[in-house]
Amino acid sequence: MALATRTDRRPSTARTIWDSSVGKKSVMAVSGLIMLGYLVVHMLGNLKIFFGSAEFNGYAHWLRTLGSPFLHHEWALWLVRVGLLAAVVAHAVSAYQLSRRDIKARPVKYAHKRRRASYATRTMRWGGIILGLFIVWHLLDLTTLTVNERAWSGHPYENVLSTFSTWYGNTIYIVAMAALGLHVRHGFWSAAQTLGAGSARRERTLKFLANGLALVLFAGFVSVPVAVMTGVVS
Ligand code: HEM
Repeated sequence: MALATRTDRRPSTARTIWDSSVGKKSVMAVSGLIMLGYLVVHMLGNLKIFFGSAEFNGYAHWLRTLGSPFLHHEWALWLVRVGLLAAVVAHAVSAYQLSRRDIKARPVKYAHKRRRASYATRTMRWGGIILGLFIVWHLLDLTTLTVNERAWSGHPYENVLSTFSTWYGNTIYIVAMAALGLHVRHGFWSAAQTLGAGSARRERTLKFLANGLALVLFAGFVSVPVAVMTGVVS
């Protein structure tokens, strides 16, 4: 009997939100803003490289003892890592699912006239892929030190110098930072729209903020390889 096999259980509110496109866009916006917060802090921390090895390495050591003696060694760092990983996964999964929906929704009857994704959408997709690959490289380079030529555990200053003394290290980072700038510029603006930007005046302010954030992040991050290449940091 049809009625007997039917389940009366209604999907939970969280499930309903997640299944909707607006829900996925909101997940993207919130996880994106969390990552953006991390990037601003990370970029400011990186600028300590201009004050020498002792200050930069001391800062890296402090990150590991954060919350001590209440928290055990590296616990605070691990909390940040878990939070970041959750944000990256949520961001990537919702981006993938939204793009699948977008492709499915396109008319396939007239294949030769098929509507292509907009320039911004394609830039965001490719930018996201480049950044995902960059993060893997970056962790292998400066966290696990697997691909770092002069890996020296506990000495991030010297490891950063080692990275930016190779042509491929500079190329990978500078290309990734350009992708980051473009991604943040459009992503911040999209997040503001999803979460409700409001009036035209507020939209103008948010657009200005998106451009400013992208530029500051790009310049702040890129200043490190440029400083090593030009001998300002050595
Ligand atoms: C020139 C640009 C950058 C430099 C010089 C740099 C430098 C570093 C260094 C030295 C570490 C290791 C810190 C330590 O072990 O104490 C690190 C870790 C990390 N960086 Fe970057 N970074 C840059 C850009 C970025 C960007 C653009 C992202 C994200 C898109 C990023 C994400 C991370 C993450 C997730 C970690 C791992 C943190 C951890 O769990 O220990 N970095 N970075």
